[in-house]
Amino acid sequence: MKNIKFSYPNINLSDIKLVNKIIKSGWLTHGKYTDFFEREIKRFTNSKYCVTVSSCTAGLHLSCLASNFSFGDEVIVPSVTHTATAHAVEYTGAKAVFADVDKLTGNITVETLKKKITSKTKGIIIVHMSGISCELKEIVELCKNKNLVLIEDCAHSLGTKYKSQHVGNFGISGVFSFYPTKQITTGEGGAVITNNKKIYTKIKQLKGFGIDKDIKERKKQGAYDVLDLGYNYRMTDFQAALGYRQILKYANNLKKRKQIAKRYIKNLKFTKEIKFTKYSKDNSYFVFQIFCKKRDFILKKLKSLGIGVSVHYTTPLPQMTYYKKKYNYRPKSIKNSIEYGSTNISLPVYPSLTNNQIDAICKTLKKLVK
Ligand SMILES: Cc1ncc(COP(=O)(O)O)c(C=O)c1O
Repeated sequence: MKNIKFSYPNINLSDIKLVNKIIKSGWLTHGKYTDFFEREIKRFTNSKYCVTVSSCTAGLHLSCLASNFSFGDEVIVPSVTHTATAHAVEYTGAKAVFADVDKLTGNITVETLKKKITSKTKGIIIVHMSGISCELKEIVELCKNKNLVLIEDCAHSLGTKYKSQHVGNFGISGVFSFYPTKQITTGEGGAVITNNKKIYTKIKQLKGFGIDKDIKERKKQGAYDVLDLGYNYRMTDFQAALGYRQILKYANNLKKRKQIAKRYIKNLKFTKEIKFTKYSKDNSYFVFQIFCKKRDFILKKLKSLGIGVSVHYTTPLPQMTYYKKKYNYRPKSIKNSIEYGSTNISLPVYPSLTNNQIDAICKTLKKLVK
């Protein structure tokens, strides 16, 4: 048994002590660590505004609402992604339209997007799959020309850059996930970044019931108005503290992630049965994704050997029962997504993964693909 975990959060004893202190204080939400965490996310991503939320799904939903997506509208999403990307569109009553992806990056492309644009298209949600940025220049241009709203699902891409700029800054908003397997975690949680004050104000209000002023802004106790049918999508302060501590350490974590990717590449570059994208300093390496035949056999073997890997993702969304029943997609239109879904494996990337563990994973893979 090798016993290598797929993911392992970068949380130390002093982070736990801080969370403990907040829990003991009794001030569990609306606290100062939410502000601290939002400030550090803004600093790290170089964005003007940030709103923490209870999950990336919540942040995507709020971004769709702030874009006024509604019944009769179509919003294009990748056919390979977490179901949250498409669900966020459907929550508003708009229709999620699925575009095919590139079979090596898993990213939506301007060519696959163009095929899906109709007179009803109102926006696009892109995903920077596994930490690789989409071709943003072309996508931003397309959105400008066709007057489409662009939302970036950055669930995999804290630390990913496109031409020196952090992803999430190219559309109306960028939404991050802090689920435990992600680059940093708050247990469950997410954050929306934006450079648009109107979008920021709307998302901030909708996150807290549609109330006009949060607790710190109220002049008189209990004096507030309800402007909208909002939600409770808040993150607790002890979660924010956990996120705050990790984002402070994230530059080092990111360096380590890139070293791990380089080591995978060094080990696997001469194995022609295994494909992967070439090294990029702009990739935040949420995972190290490889592609090979006999994928399901390899997954089973790795599991039996105690090597933790994952798959992002297997079944394209239009083939999932809910969407299949609703929209009846033809598999021909998502050919690349089907191939991508049946060949990808996500190898672990986290700071405490050792060189010996990486080498052991690669050695096993090389044997299995033959
Ligand atoms: C691409 C993508 N979008 C959205 C989500 C949803 O994130 P959360 O679990 O924080 O709601 C995930 C979750 O892993 C994801 O991978």
